[in-house]
Amino acid sequence: MIFTVAIDGPAAAGKGTLSRAVAARFGFAHLDTGALYRAVGAKGGDPVAAARSLTAADLARDDLRSLAAGQAASRVAVIPEVRAALLEFQRRFARAEGGAVLDGRDIGTVICPEAEVKLYVTASPEVRAHRRWLELGGDEAEVLAQVRERDARDMGRAEAPLKPAADALVIDTSALSIDAAVAQAIAAVAARL
Ligand code: C5P
Repeated sequence: MIFTVAIDGPAAAGKGTLSRAVAARFGFAHLDTGALYRAVGAKGGDPVAAARSLTAADLARDDLRSLAAGQAASRVAVIPEVRAALLEFQRRFARAEGGAVLDGRDIGTVICPEAEVKLYVTASPEVRAHRRWLELGGDEAEVLAQVRERDARDMGRAEAPLKPAADALVIDTSALSIDAAVAQAIAAVAARL
């Protein structure tokens, strides 16, 4: 069976949690596409060359989740040649036999416009910054400033900007429990299977 679930949205909206839950529930493979951009940013040097030569070891680095790695990712993610270098890998993953969940910023709009299910997961900047701060610590006001800066860069870029696909189901997790958000995502997939 070929079946793609596209999950897009801003940083710390809950995409990762929902993606893992949907993948586990239906036995689908899961690709966190943000990790590709984080790995390119963390590799340093020429980002286009880094994107073209990305290896499993680059993706396994344990410093990819930091705020700094997120900022570096969003800076290399504006470069069209970086996005082009990562496109084929994501499309193949999405259409591989057995079903796939991909989470990112442009999965429903650019990578898989034909995805069977498209979710746009969001929450207020304050709620998202609070979650990131609980996870990573530091100064909460600084975390909020970084969340806003990354939103602006991801939504404002010319190439594949972050926005909901026209046919995406929007899930706002600001006031939702994890269980309630997961239930909505699973129901959306079950309805299309
Ligand atoms: O989702 P995550 O926070 O790991 O993504 C890091 C950055 O990578 C995002 O802020 C965005 O700039 C970029 N990204 C992207 N397209 C994707 C996934 C991530 O541009 N599909």
